[in-house]
Amino acid sequence: MSHKLDPIAGTQGDVASHDQTKSWFYTDIVKEHFFHPKNFMEQDADESQFNAVGKVGSPACGDELRVWMKVDPETERIQEFKWKTFGCGSAIASTSMASEIVTENGGMTLEEARALKPQDIMERLGGLPQRKFHCSVLCDKALRDAINDFYRRENKFDKIVVESARIIDPVSKVTDHDIEEAVLEGAHTLELVQQKTKVGIGNPNCLPAVEELIRFYKEKYFGGK
Ligand code: FES
Repeated sequence: MSHKLDPIAGTQGDVASHDQTKSWFYTDIVKEHFFHPKNFMEQDADESQFNAVGKVGSPACGDELRVWMKVDPETERIQEFKWKTFGCGSAIASTSMASEIVTENGGMTLEEARALKPQDIMERLGGLPQRKFHCSVLCDKALRDAINDFYRRENKFDKIVVESARIIDPVSKVTDHDIEEAVLEGAHTLELVQQKTKVGIGNPNCLPAVEELIRFYKEKYFGGK
């Protein structure tokens, strides 16, 4: 399915120069979710009605996102999904769309929600500017955090999935998460990842592993492009 892309100017955190204009396009669906966010957590909402909470901060930009879920303990389906963010327009639109995806048609099971990928959200939005992809990953991560929180509250510890960072270059102390963030910020070649992270500068032995991770994250977030 192809979507007509329109430029949007002046959204929070999105400053585009004339030279960058072409890479700062937002679809009508993104604009709809940005200007009319769905399932936003009200200021005076009673948090005790939710049985799972997730939180994530973005190392790329310093923004933060919180989500609240009401999960049916029997079916493990997501009945409600609310959120609040101090992120940009792309984070707002992505999370708003994600809140619809996980609750539509009776709600996703936690297993289905855990399998949701940032590309699924971006596809439903009709795309995002490449430099804003890391914003769409925020809701994906907060959702995973909330799923773990649900299982922790239910004492189902075997269902908790923790993704801990692995050091790839012991000299520069660069981890796989640092490389993931660099790829999300648009560094899709070894040279660009090195510019951002300094990985492998004093330890070229780790470069094959770095290149493999770049391929892995490009495939994960951008379908290998
Ligand atoms: Fe921070 Fe988009 S720039 S969430």
